[in-house]
Amino acid sequence: MRLREVCKKFDGGIDAIGGVNLSVAPEEFVSIVGSSGCGKSTLLRIIAGLVPSTGGTVEVHGEPVMAPRRDVGMMFQRPALLAWKTSLENVLLPLRMRRTVQVSDLEDALRLLDLFHLGGFEHHFPRQLSGGMQQRVALARLMMTGADVRLLDEPFGAVDELTRELLNLELLKIHDRTASATIFVTHNISEAVLLSDRILVMSPRPGMIAADIPVPLERPRSPEMAYSTAFQKIALKVRYHIQLSQSERGMTG
Ligand SMILES: Nc1ncnc2c1ncn2[C@@H]1O[C@H](COP(=O)(O)OP(=O)(O)O)[C@@H](O)[C@H]1O
Ligand SMILES: [Mg+2]
Repeated sequence: MRLREVCKKFDGGIDAIGGVNLSVAPEEFVSIVGSSGCGKSTLLRIIAGLVPSTGGTVEVHGEPVMAPRRDVGMMFQRPALLAWKTSLENVLLPLRMRRTVQVSDLEDALRLLDLFHLGGFEHHFPRQLSGGMQQRVALARLMMTGADVRLLDEPFGAVDELTRELLNLELLKIHDRTASATIFVTHNISEAVLLSDRILVMSPRPGMIAADIPVPLERPRSPEMAYSTAFQKIALKVRYHIQLSQSERGMTG
């Protein structure tokens, strides 16, 4: 994935994104942190081909993004499941929209649900599941698309802290099994450090990349790493750059 000078000005004059340059390698997990309104969701929607940029280029696998692509999967803060479909049917949905579902697809979907500890809930409807379980269905659906570029927009922002920790573990597990080029938007600094190879700090509007911080912790990662000095040093650095980008904005108005 490669972005060059990506800009977005909305009708009405809001300058949301002011020139983002970014490359994400095939198996790299990159987080974006930054205050709300700095253009993170807009940037992800542009990469997903859901919103046109007003300047610059986005390439995935060497091709310019003009519309949504099958090899780019996106997940949102709300699980966005269809209320009248079961977990299993929600997971199969992206495939059904493309072609006839085979028995092997069904098996894949069941295996994914099992991987996300949803065995026994395959035939439940979203309203019968907790928020964290719904997000796991959405994660399984994202995996089912087979997209090797994944965009996650604050996917765990609406769940409680313990559930978030469990979901982080699921996501680490997925990334270890099937690493993909991932961009993960979060407000949670520890979450970003635990999951990422690199953390980008986005400055307030118009959003730009204010800092690009590597996370040289070994993989596989474990939650216990959060107590290490190395981990905490990186978290502090991220916090420092968030504050810096905000105060610079304050000085320039
Ligand atoms: N469709 C839209 N039309 C006009 N302004 C928008 C639209 N979508 C987002 N914005 C504005 O663009 C800025 C960035 O929004 P967004 O990308 O949602 O930020 P973030 O995800 O970082 O909170 C905000 O000021 C928001 O109000
Ligand atoms: Mg957002």
